[in-house]
Amino acid sequence: MAIVQNWMPPSRENWELICRIWQYFPVITTIQWILDWYPQGKTSTDSRFNIPGKIAWATMEMAGFITLLYIMFTLPSELGIKELPWGNWTMAGCFTIHYTYRAILSPLFLNPSMSPIHPLVWTLAFLFQVFNSTSIGGWLAGYGPTTVHEWAGRFWIMEIGLVIWAWGLLGNMFHDDDLREIRRATDRKQRKEAEKLGKPPESIHKVYMIPKNGLFQYVLYAHYLCEWIEWAGFWIVGGWNCHPARAFLVNEIATMLPRALQGKRWYIKKFGKEKVGNRKAVIPGVL
Ligand SMILES: NC(=O)c1ccc[n+]([C@@H]2O[C@H](COP(=O)([O-])OP(=O)(O)OC[C@H]3O[C@@H](n4cnc5c(N)ncnc54)[C@H](OP(=O)(O)O)[C@@H]3O)[C@@H](O)[C@H]2O)c1
Repeated sequence: MAIVQNWMPPSRENWELICRIWQYFPVITTIQWILDWYPQGKTSTDSRFNIPGKIAWATMEMAGFITLLYIMFTLPSELGIKELPWGNWTMAGCFTIHYTYRAILSPLFLNPSMSPIHPLVWTLAFLFQVFNSTSIGGWLAGYGPTTVHEWAGRFWIMEIGLVIWAWGLLGNMFHDDDLREIRRATDRKQRKEAEKLGKPPESIHKVYMIPKNGLFQYVLYAHYLCEWIEWAGFWIVGGWNCHPARAFLVNEIATMLPRALQGKRWYIKKFGKEKVGNRKAVIPGVL
């Protein structure tokens, strides 16, 4: 059943239009190189319109895998496709696993605290998810490969892609957790001290330290780097012609690279050049 006729799930014509528009997303991100205002996370601002961090992350990121799964389960029957090949479901599985972690586990169960987000950032992130998942979902649900033969002969390269995807995801989770541990450790310490003094413990909201484990020794945004590796693996699984996977990787880099460089400036301002040391923002030894 279509939610919006010809748009959700999209007709081929509308899907092609969405993919074409989506390729130009990096143009929008040029604003991030000019403007230092980014009301989220470390650089969140006080605004009465702010959305609480955990709710904001869950709702904006959930749009991605829900949209993708909706298209996967509705478009094939509209196109008269009986069964999608296993390669398509493998990629849909990768996408869903990542976003179950990003939209549900991470904000709602694992992160000790998350800064509030301005509705403008929430809206842009939500639109990112809808465009991206429609682009990938359309390809996977009928406008890309629709027979097992189209995946044939690509077994080894798909396996390599899946291994890269899995290591990227694990790396992303490991470094996300290293950041969580900063606040968990502070919380444990503050609770102990508060117990001794018979006072309520202080909040760990907005407690920041320089992360030092894993690739954080070399870059301040190791979790971003790992996420790029993950989606590069995803593109390898889909193959060179999987333009939605390529657009996803390019668009992630386009928005996360300026954010990481801004973050490095933030770390230097907060902790000083000496404490940050030789660490780069996101690419070891380069940037
Ligand atoms: N931002 C993007 O454009 C984007 C796009 C696609 C995917 N992602 C992925 O989403 C995840 C989160 O991204 P993000 O931009 O929110 O990352 P982030 O700014 O590094 O924040 C991640 C979490 O760790 C906390 N944190 C950050 N630095 C810390 C420090 N030095 N000490 C203690 N806690 C710290 C943050 O708390 P606060 O919220 O209080 O700052 C937040 O809860 C990453 O894995 C990233 O790969 C991000």
